[in-house]
Amino acid sequence: MKIIVTKSYDEMSKAAADVFEKEIRNNPELVLGLATGSTPVGTYRELVRRHLENGLDFSRTKSFNLDEYVGLSGDNPNSYRHFMDEHLFNHINIERENTHVPDGLTENPKEYGKKYDQMILESGGIGIQLLGIGSNGHIAFNEPDEELPVGTGLVELSEQTIADNARFFQSAEHVPTQAISMGMGSILKAGKIILLASGEGKAEVISELLNRGKVTSRIPATFLLLHPDVTLVCDEEAYSEVNR
Ligand code: GLP
Repeated sequence: MKIIVTKSYDEMSKAAADVFEKEIRNNPELVLGLATGSTPVGTYRELVRRHLENGLDFSRTKSFNLDEYVGLSGDNPNSYRHFMDEHLFNHINIERENTHVPDGLTENPKEYGKKYDQMILESGGIGIQLLGIGSNGHIAFNEPDEELPVGTGLVELSEQTIADNARFFQSAEHVPTQAISMGMGSILKAGKIILLASGEGKAEVISELLNRGKVTSRIPATFLLLHPDVTLVCDEEAYSEVNR
């Protein structure tokens, strides 16, 4: 795993945007794997700026998002579709039909998940995947467990994740308990992965990830250690426990 440690959140966001910009300029038809949560907001802001000021062109790119809450329609303000529209898609020149966020209202998550993975394959596969990390080591909504899903499908959110994400909702009771999430196998098929982490709240899990030297489904992020092209881009706070 390559590691870039930055002084601040803004520098982390710029460093991640640098990699995305380079990859998109090299391949204007790049398939982007995109993430939600607070961490990638600055990266999206930076990509929007580069689109508006430097003509970074998304017109031929496609995107696939990692996950969506079950029960939320795309126009619900807490849905990840809404998040993506607000933070990125509405401000760049990506074609709307080329943006994919799992459907939180699907009636058959199993079939839907298979189709989602198939669509990714048919698009040529994800060229670059942006990831955040949960404080418990989850990736997308693949939660710590005895087993991890390989493909996209229905998952249960852990209590820790519900508590962490309650800040976006009225209260923890309003956080959906299930999601449609890309599986670890779907994520690990990406050509290149950028893992973001910011702030003290991620310090412990980043230290676990980098110091453990083993994969465990109890920390889903450790599966990223098996991928040949992952770059961790994190700020000093998130990195602060690594050498303790
Ligand atoms: C959610 C998302 C993850 C994200 C995680 C961390 O649970 N499903 O993809 O990585 O939150 O979020 P944050 O960046 O807000 O800490």
